[in-house]
Amino acid sequence: MKILFLNGPNLNLLGQREPEVYGRTTLADIEAKVRARARKLKVTVEFRQSNLEGELVAWIQQARRKFDVIVLNAAAYTHTSVALRDAIAAVGVPTIEIHLSNIHAREKFRHKSLIAPVCRGQILGFGVNSYVLAVEAAVNVNER
Ligand code: DQA
Repeated sequence: MKILFLNGPNLNLLGQREPEVYGRTTLADIEAKVRARARKLKVTVEFRQSNLEGELVAWIQQARRKFDVIVLNAAAYTHTSVALRDAIAAVGVPTIEIHLSNIHAREKFRHKSLIAPVCRGQILGFGVNSYVLAVEAAVNVNER
């Protein structure tokens, strides 16, 4: 199984960005934790970040037939991007939405996720552990 982790805008700043909301762990540290869990579960992981909406759209499109599952922290694009939503729907690779923070406990504009209806499920509010839990969810994505 191959899992593609995609991270949206400003997540490259984790560790220094609003630590009271997102903690002090960097994206590189998160990637290391994801890789450790993936190794245990014997799955392959690719981990990418972009600040550009179009690049994220391109990566979702290219995932077709190359990855079994996408795990997506779309960051701010979660709340704005019809393009990301359409890409997920078009490509048909099962996608899991994740967030570090509980978006429902924050500002009203974060309560709405445009991508949620085309994702298999959401994992949010567990900080770094949202990513680790997503490896587990990805491995079992086709179980009901
Ligand atoms: C986030 C939540 C989003 O609302 C925000 O724009 C982010 C990070 C999270 O992981 O908690 O950049 O996706």
